[in-house]
Amino acid sequence: MADRKATLQIDGQSIELPVLSPAAGKDVVDVRTLGKHGYFTFDPGFLATGSCESAITYIDGENGVLLHRGYPIGELATKADYLEVCYMLLHGEAPTEEQYQEFKSTITKHTMVHQGIHNFFNGFRRDAHPMAMLCAVTGALSSFYHDDLDIHDENQRLRSAYRLIAKIPTIAAMAYKFSIGQPFVYPRNDLGYAENFLNMMFSVPAEDYEISPAVARAMDRIFTLHADHEQNASTSTVRLAGSSGANPYACIAAGVASLWGPAHGGANEACLRMLAEIGSVENIPKYIEKAKDKNDPFRLMGFGHRVYKNTDPRATVMRESCHEVLKELNRDDPLLDVAMELERIALEDDYFIEKKLFPNVDFYSGIVLKAIGIPTNMFTVIFALSRTVGWVSHWHEMMGEANQKIGRPRQLYTGYTQREFSPIKK
Ligand code: SDX
Repeated sequence: MADRKATLQIDGQSIELPVLSPAAGKDVVDVRTLGKHGYFTFDPGFLATGSCESAITYIDGENGVLLHRGYPIGELATKADYLEVCYMLLHGEAPTEEQYQEFKSTITKHTMVHQGIHNFFNGFRRDAHPMAMLCAVTGALSSFYHDDLDIHDENQRLRSAYRLIAKIPTIAAMAYKFSIGQPFVYPRNDLGYAENFLNMMFSVPAEDYEISPAVARAMDRIFTLHADHEQNASTSTVRLAGSSGANPYACIAAGVASLWGPAHGGANEACLRMLAEIGSVENIPKYIEKAKDKNDPFRLMGFGHRVYKNTDPRATVMRESCHEVLKELNRDDPLLDVAMELERIALEDDYFIEKKLFPNVDFYSGIVLKAIGIPTNMFTVIFALSRTVGWVSHWHEMMGEANQKIGRPRQLYTGYTQREFSPIKK
């Protein structure tokens, strides 16, 4: 496409800025040269700012499209397993059977953690939130690999990525076991990724644990639905941390920290607590009114999204999973009735229509996780486990860039201009 320019007329200056065209989505105005004309851009929350080039995931918020390496999320969630999705997020293409088996074997062999990791948990209180433990212990992983790690070597970057994809489930399950006072369960190389995680979570030395194929399938699908999502808050955190050349394990710990917030990955835990607080279909109107009341900080958790403005395609798949899992496990959950009715009412309400608020990925995931037997305080840990592949894929992509720069935003300064300091004794 011919070189397109945007012209900024300001203070008598005419500033020409290149317009860049993506493979899909909105054109971008390249403002990198704006500084030399004496101006910065200002965009708190990055509502209209592209922070990087990426080829991993594409989101069309207006049309509810989510592609991972060009493949629609609905197809991946039903036709691929999580490790296939991990391979394609990291390497760019879907694996051949041989590549898949080699990747699966590599991940499997990295699932154990150094025995010293077990000692970290003894420093936590029993009631420590599992996200606090995951954040701390993931960061601690950097102490085991820092010295022999050259992040500018692609193969060493990939080995770090494989270790993280393999070990985060083990650490997540250890956080859960510690919180309930049960012994840690070691990974097993004869089990698949989701089965291994369920076994580390729910088996006990005292008896055999039978893994439900339906639960394992649902778990694997949840991992896939949360695997990556472009430049969301936690992925942007990982990129910014990694841009300084920081250890990848420390960068992923930063991503865990950012995901924890209720506006982001903490929404699934907050959503289930909200559904439990609403309690019954009769109470829904009261909470809808609270969500619309500007003076009330209450928000409908699991509703709304920065990018999706009509539908979150992951919520659609998650809703189907909800029904499948509850049916296959022969369970019903009154909270599902509340969730379905809340969705119906909210989607008919003028406020939610005007604000383009509808269920996001976190709205139904909590109900599926609860049906699988995952405790509420582990929901965001599952999200972090699932998103680790997205985080490491973006970190790997960034660190492979020819002119990778440290991220260093500017600001709109509103403090004092220079003034003289008078020491106290004067
Ligand atoms: C995830 O970025 C990603 O991709 C994230 C994620 C991923 O995979 O990484 O998709 C995962 O984080 C999903 C979102 C989970 N969060 C929640 O469900 C928490 C509830 N949702 C909101 O906090 C909110 O909708 C956000 C944070 C998701 C989006 O916030 P924005 O884009 O900054 O929008 P906003 O806060 O400016 O809201 C716009 C308007 C406001 O009203 P006005 O000031 O314009 O009058 O909509 C209102 C808000 O008050 N609003 C809500 C609401 N969300 C927004 N009102 C009631 N309930 C809500 N949930």
